[in-house]
Amino acid sequence: MEKREREVTLRFLAEPSDINFLGKVFGGAVMKWIDLAGYTCAVGWSQQYCVTVYVGGIRFYEPILIGHLVEVRAKLIYTGRTSMHIAVDVQAGDPRSSQFTKTTHCIIVFVAVNEAGETVEVPAWKPESEEDIALQRYALRLMELRKNIETEMNPFIGR
Ligand SMILES: CC(C)(COP(=O)(O)OP(=O)(O)OC[C@H]1O[C@@H](n2cnc3c(N)ncnc32)[C@H](O)[C@@H]1OP(=O)(O)O)[C@@H](O)C(=O)NCCC(=O)NCCS
Repeated sequence: MEKREREVTLRFLAEPSDINFLGKVFGGAVMKWIDLAGYTCAVGWSQQYCVTVYVGGIRFYEPILIGHLVEVRAKLIYTGRTSMHIAVDVQAGDPRSSQFTKTTHCIIVFVAVNEAGETVEVPAWKPESEEDIALQRYALRLMELRKNIETEMNPFIGR
């Protein structure tokens, strides 16, 4: 049986087109990279089209500079029936050195869909190592916490 990849790393240079008004990388560019890396990971695992259903807890710890090498790592840490929870870490640094700084971490959730846009089941991922069991627990805890956040937000969503 074909092996499914649960991890993807994108590496590229931050380009002048990614710039904000202060001359550093625009937060929206980083969010796009997170979505692209997460999408690639989700599609690789499910072998289906996928859509983003949730992005949580994005915090930009450090700015990314134009010309710096950016590494976006996406790793599947939990599968539900149709959803895949993916931890994404972004780090960046001067390509002349081997020093990278963690700039962002977040969880992004994708749902697998068919060509009609209907949700479809995904293959279950089962953690085996201690590290993966801890990551799965982390995803489950965040899912619980999100329920409270969504309850707080519901009156303001307007739908
Ligand atoms: C994704 C979509 C098809 C899901 O439809 P839905 O009717 O909500 O489907 P369900 O209620 O069955 O939920 C599907 C999965 O999403 C998960 N999900 C829904 N809301 C979630 C949230 N806030 N956080 C995490 N997961 C969530 C559900 O838990 C479920 O996962 P599971 O099957 O593993 O248990 C629909 O919400 C959609 O089309 N959204 C827009 C997606 C999109 O276009 N994204 C790009 C940005 S515009």
